[in-house]
Amino acid sequence: MLQGIGITKHFGGLAALSGVSFQVAPGEIVGLIGPNGAGKTTLFNIVSGLIRPTVGDVRMGEMKITRLAPYRISRLGIGRTFQTPRLFPHLTALQNVLMGAFFRQRGEASLRTREGAGGEAMRALEFVRLGDRAGFPAALLPPGGRKLLELAMVLATRPRVLLLDELMAGLNPGELQLAMRLIRRVRDERGAAVFWVEHVMEAIMGVADRVVVLHHGEKIAEGSPRIVAEDPRVLDAYLGERAA
Ligand SMILES: Nc1ncnc2c1ncn2[C@@H]1O[C@H](COP(=O)(O)OP(=O)(O)O)[C@@H](O)[C@H]1O
Ligand SMILES: [Mg+2]
Repeated sequence: MLQGIGITKHFGGLAALSGVSFQVAPGEIVGLIGPNGAGKTTLFNIVSGLIRPTVGDVRMGEMKITRLAPYRISRLGIGRTFQTPRLFPHLTALQNVLMGAFFRQRGEASLRTREGAGGEAMRALEFVRLGDRAGFPAALLPPGGRKLLELAMVLATRPRVLLLDELMAGLNPGELQLAMRLIRRVRDERGAAVFWVEHVMEAIMGVADRVVVLHHGEKIAEGSPRIVAEDPRVLDAYLGERAA
């Protein structure tokens, strides 16, 4: 469904990505891992239309989406969260999700009305267990709550593919367990595919169907979590980072 073909991105003299290809099939949870600076967020920025690749293409189904504006990519059903949540701090949790449901909507008639968007927003908040915080200003939520709120915002757009950029960083152990269950439920109950950057290895290894590994902008491994975790190139990449 979502596909990247030979993606290269140069920032001046730095090759942040070199010829990276990937696929995310419907209903699949694909982990994207790699040491800091590997190019994971850059790949998400390209898929979501924030930046353009130097070389290569992104496709959603048969459609080439490489040069579409971010709002058009969002309306095709590709939603994302950011490493640092992008919220409206002075609006309530519910109003934040309404921004997602109403302004980033994919054109379903049910979301175009205030009532339709409101119902969808409340359901998304309840899904991430923030229903009882609907009237709280986003700025007053704890860090984990802000990350879950951003997840609700993107879920309210009803994505067909959900890109998660380090959703679990900064979550407490209870929130982490909740987030792992939510990612599975996003797939099982909402039918979305998930493309997921995470440093919390136990979460990736426990939830992802398949893992793609980037290192210095190159794809160095891909496969089932168990096989990738034992791949010498992957171990070297992570050990190298720790030694540095
Ligand atoms: N807008 C940018 N301008 C210049 N360099 C960038 C930019 N964005 C990312 N980079 C560089 O590209 C490399 C990959 O970064 P990033 O994709 O954020 O890595 P990751 O998310 O895997 O930690 C890093 O060396 C980073 O400094
Ligand atoms: Mg990153």
